Amino acid sequence: GPTREPIDPVRYLSNHSSGKQGHAIAAAARSAGADVTLVSGPVAIPDPEGVRVVHVETAQQMLKEVQAALPADVFISTAAVADWAVAAPASSKTKKTRGAPPPVLKLVENPDILATISKLSFNRPPLVVGFAAETDDVIDHGREKLARKGCDLIVANDVSPAAGVMGGDANQVHIVSADGVESW
Ligand code: CTP
Repeated sequence: GPTREPIDPVRYLSNHSSGKQGHAIAAAARSAGADVTLVSGPVAIPDPEGVRVVHVETAQQMLKEVQAALPADVFISTAAVADWAVAAPASSKTKKTRGAPPPVLKLVENPDILATISKLSFNRPPLVVGFAAETDDVIDHGREKLARKGCDLIVANDVSPAAGVMGGDANQVHIVSADGVESW
């Protein structure tokens, strides 16, 4: 597996994600005949059938494994990558000491995997697809993200609580490209 950085085995920072969307897309690509590598963060669902699965625990590891899976015809960046990591992760449990103040965590920015792959000058997949989780101005934010990250499509998910998307089995998306928007 990936070389392990020191990681507190008990306490961690993460984004909320079921993994359902990424796993469903990997399975659909496989059903469509693709040879699929799924680089997955920690999720509570089983690996999809017929897909090469690489499990990772940090954004750094995810970037490394995505780069190792190139060349590819398509890169679909569904992961809810945490924007920040703890600067100095402990290798054993961070204990609390009676009477001591709570620890102050210094954070560092994680690599942006989607932007890194989109902007490759060598081995850039011909189709790079990013995702956006938005609660307001879903399409405008999708357009902005398309330009900023340099990908070819942005799939903008409406994750406002009323839409019930987070952890659910159905969603409503707007596929934003340079040519326009399709709503599915
Ligand atoms: N992404 C990534 N690496 C990161 C952060 C995000 O590859 N460190 C990718 C995600 O996989 C997704 C897209 O970038 O395809 C989401 O972009 P992001 O800017 O994180 O969007 P939001 O999570 O919607 O956050 P914000 O609106 O705060 O920009």
